Amino acid sequence: MTPVRIDVLTIFPGMFEGPFAAGMIRKAALAGICRLHVHDLRAWAPAPHRVVDDEAYGGGPGMVLKAEPIVRAYRELRAAGAGPPVLLSPQGRRFDQALARKLARGPAMTLLCGRYEGVDERVAAILQPLEVSIGDFVLTGGELPALVVVDAVVRLLPGVLAEGAAESDSFSAGLLEGPQYTRPRHLWGLEVPPVLLSGDHGAIAAWRRREALRRTWERRPDLVRTAPLSLAERAAVAEWAAEASVPERPPAWWAVPEGDGPGPAGTDDPEVGAPAAGGSS
Ligand SMILES: C[S@@+](CC[C@H](N)C(=O)[O-])C[C@H]1O[C@@H](n2cnc3c(N)ncnc32)[C@H](O)[C@@H]1O
Repeated sequence: MTPVRIDVLTIFPGMFEGPFAAGMIRKAALAGICRLHVHDLRAWAPAPHRVVDDEAYGGGPGMVLKAEPIVRAYRELRAAGAGPPVLLSPQGRRFDQALARKLARGPAMTLLCGRYEGVDERVAAILQPLEVSIGDFVLTGGELPALVVVDAVVRLLPGVLAEGAAESDSFSAGLLEGPQYTRPRHLWGLEVPPVLLSGDHGAIAAWRRREALRRTWERRPDLVRTAPLSLAERAAVAEWAAEASVPERPPAWWAVPEGDGPGPAGTDDPEVGAPAAGGSS
């Protein structure tokens, strides 16, 4: 099979060295399942200073990545076989498993990493990239988002994971995956559910499916609404909802409203997390 080609254009190529040399990404590259090319954007900026950024028109703090080096670099890479452009941007389409699956069909993509206050708008106007966000927060650059995209895509390429391993993952069938256990069987008074030790593959699959559904209903009811469920599963969800059968538990430390209650678990300092005393500073 032709390897999926992934090019990355960045001013920090060193950020990719560690992640590309570890785990499944390394394995996929060594096996020829994907080809990874990281390019330093400065190579397309004019010598001797290789400047890739400039002040924003209209003023304001921070610099903007210039359009010319990016467009020049992309055109040259494209002519040499690189894939269509994907611009990492907090303003882009939210990255999810469906988009990872789509990108994993290949044959190639070129990830463009922004920096500073962002990228001159004319890059998007000229290259018409797919703009991708990894979530509603702002990072300092597109390198970590690009690594997120590469990791999520590469693990889906045929031959990277064991056959069928990705199929039970969260979001693959529209649900979260259920709980997982490994040795030892008894730990701190907590038991592995007996069905998992039964050797009955049908019963195990049915248990896993039900636990996945239950967990999704508890944590991500929005996914349950759109997941392809059988009539029996819809009935089970309706029953849980009618019983309101989620056990009452005290809120976890991260669920306590800010400034209202004790500090993080393991802290016995009553001042941690409490509103500031005195109030006038
Ligand atoms: C500081 S951000 C620029 C944010 C921009 N000023 C804005 O408010 O939309 C610099 C670069 O980081 C990358 N970046 C930051 N957050 C991201 C996110 N959530 N998803 C994808 N890329 C992101 C983009 O490449 C962006 O050009």
